[in-house]
Amino acid sequence: MTSVQNISSWRKAGVIAAESLDYAKKLVVKNASLLEVSEKIEEFITSKGAVPAFPVQLSCDNIAAHYCAYPGDETIFQEQVVCVDVGVCVDGCIGDTACTIDLSGKYSELVSASRQALNSAIKLCTPGTEIGIIGRAVQEIITAKGFSPIRNLSGHGLDKYTIHSEPQIPNVDTKDSTKLLEGMIIAVEPFASTGTGIVKESGASSVFSLNNVKPVRSREASQVLQLITKEWNSLPFCTRWITKKFGIGTTARALRELMTAGIITAHPPLFDTGIVSQAEHTIIVEEKPIILTKSTNE
Ligand code: CO
Repeated sequence: MTSVQNISSWRKAGVIAAESLDYAKKLVVKNASLLEVSEKIEEFITSKGAVPAFPVQLSCDNIAAHYCAYPGDETIFQEQVVCVDVGVCVDGCIGDTACTIDLSGKYSELVSASRQALNSAIKLCTPGTEIGIIGRAVQEIITAKGFSPIRNLSGHGLDKYTIHSEPQIPNVDTKDSTKLLEGMIIAVEPFASTGTGIVKESGASSVFSLNNVKPVRSREASQVLQLITKEWNSLPFCTRWITKKFGIGTTARALRELMTAGIITAHPPLFDTGIVSQAEHTIIVEEKPIILTKSTNE
């Protein structure tokens, strides 16, 4: 749990995250390359003097989260529903924000369901609120619109250099009586789906996180591990960032070895049975909740 220290860095991370998401909204259009868009957003973040808190996630249609462009990714946006999830890190302080872009023109209700759920949830981000109550509000709004909240994805606390800390902020009524405390920094992220509302991991992962550092057998793996600990440490990273330095073959072998050794964990894309929308903000819990990632266009 975070209490508000380094507030200026938290605010700065939030502002840059909001700007990055606004920038992403201009780039995610039909026929654009998912890979190029990802790299442009990440370049935008570094151009502002920050670093990505995690690789840009552009998850289309049935994919709720964790789709990150892999090296040479040839995906071109079609008439799809695209969840854009962006994280920005400034001196360890993190802004985490997401929105959904409907390129099909058919899912505006689905997109507004997660947005409305987020807006209502934010009003509850005050000291003393039981987190189950936030889940209940999200669930009620999304189900009233005829969609399913995704029950096995949740919002989360944020800490310095840590994207997912306690408490988990549910998207359904878990009856969890854990109370929010003043000054906590949390990300609230409702997902609405036309499917079951339960996601499953599927396909190859291009996003990873570091578990624990220990000696590895091969020189390749040890060099890649050195890069990971030096550049990203506890923050997630992607295959793309490593192939830039080591090429595709070495990177693939090294990542496989690090996974087998339990040093890194893969985070494969998360699929639902239906189309998914998402909305997310990073918030400081206060009597008047502070939205750190609020866009100036919002
Ligand atoms: Co998040």
